[in-house]
Amino acid sequence: MKEFVIGNTLEEALSLVPEGAIKKIKIDGKLFGITRRNQEFFVFDAFCPHRGASLIQGSINQKGEIICPLHQYRFELKGGKVKAGYCPDLETYPSELSEIGLKIKVPI
Ligand code: FES
Repeated sequence: MKEFVIGNTLEEALSLVPEGAIKKIKIDGKLFGITRRNQEFFVFDAFCPHRGASLIQGSINQKGEIICPLHQYRFELKGGKVKAGYCPDLETYPSELSEIGLKIKVPI
């Protein structure tokens, strides 16, 4: 796992990922998804563990789940547990918001 910082300040990190939006981050050629609810960020694999659809095109529901656009399987943002569907859980990665931006740790 390697640590990266997104943005240079807390405010910049918040503005780069608008509430409820799903953004992509590319690090060393690997894509990750990122979203947030209030000041809590969630970083996850960009591709669905079912058949590999792009979760960047997915949506977030009121329960804090990401919904895959292809077969509508649902995964908890916190921890990636599959909530609807039959496939492995979604890989999620730690993040921490601070005054210097958003720190994320991803397997690069
Ligand atoms: S590819 Fe995501 S639910 Fe099937």
